[in-house]
Amino acid sequence: MKRITVWMAVLLLALSSCLSARAAEGPVVGVCIYNGQDTFIQSMFSLLETQADGRAQLHIRDAANDQNKQNDQIGELLALGVDALVVNPVDRTGAVYLIDMAKKQGVPIIMVNREPLTSDLDRYALAYYVGIDPKEQGELSGLLAAEYFKNNPYADKNGDGVMQTVLLKGEPGHQDAELRTRYSTMAVQSAGVHMEILAQDTAMWERSLGQEKMAAFINTFGDRIECVLCNNDDMALGAIDALKAAGYFSSGKFMPVLGIDATAPALESLRAGTLYGSVVNDAFEQARAIIELALILSDGRAVTPENFPYEVNNKVVYIKSRVITKAILEAEN
Ligand code: BGC
Repeated sequence: MKRITVWMAVLLLALSSCLSARAAEGPVVGVCIYNGQDTFIQSMFSLLETQADGRAQLHIRDAANDQNKQNDQIGELLALGVDALVVNPVDRTGAVYLIDMAKKQGVPIIMVNREPLTSDLDRYALAYYVGIDPKEQGELSGLLAAEYFKNNPYADKNGDGVMQTVLLKGEPGHQDAELRTRYSTMAVQSAGVHMEILAQDTAMWERSLGQEKMAAFINTFGDRIECVLCNNDDMALGAIDALKAAGYFSSGKFMPVLGIDATAPALESLRAGTLYGSVVNDAFEQARAIIELALILSDGRAVTPENFPYEVNNKVVYIKSRVITKAILEAEN
């Protein structure tokens, strides 16, 4: 009897120290990253850690682009007893499985960067999405390209009144790749610039592939190319690598290359005058919204305009985007 009482006391002590650790350091949040090698994702998740500091305990897992691995990681985190999940899915169309796993355990799940289908988010009241509006980003990028073409006397190299463009697309099926492509090309046309897409290919968000694909475009079209539209900055920087190798950005030979994200290396390239423009994919605000949401949901509270200062539409939070160029950057500093 005495033994049992001693054991119970030890157990209670362990439990209460565990709970007070939770109270002191905040909820335990499982964080699943699709691929830790991705430049934009790296910056957003490092900002997430800063936001969580002293307020939530993060358990971070990297799926290295493998959905099966991510499924296992989520199973493991749920078994660990996390209070909330933040998931950057490998395959956004497979989110239904992840949402159902979280629902079964009654754990809130915040999907980020890769938007699940509305019907999947609708399956669980505690399933949210935080990201950006890719239509808005596409439009901003297209508009910037059109303005460059209209305002720059040297932009129309062959003088045919048409902007000959090559386009580097992100991962097929990713909402940001599909919608940025569609809305940027539509925005160019609606700004009154006639655009001819000479070629379009996917470079899977990657700089090295961007360089490879751009080198092939230069090989085929040479100086006929008047503009390079890219779905993200890494691919734009890859395109610039290929253009530099072909003699651009020296002796007055310029090519407008546009990206999206405003990552640190892209800002450097803007300052250097190689990247023409980008659209801010606001990693700071996204990280902040994710952590605020995780704190509210893991605490069992409802999300209201009073406790969550972002617009929420049907459990979807879109952070606003804006254009960035060298001139804007210099004016800001
Ligand atoms: C970013 C890309 C990134 C992708 C990953 C996009 O929103 O613009 O740079 O590779 O998300 O899912």
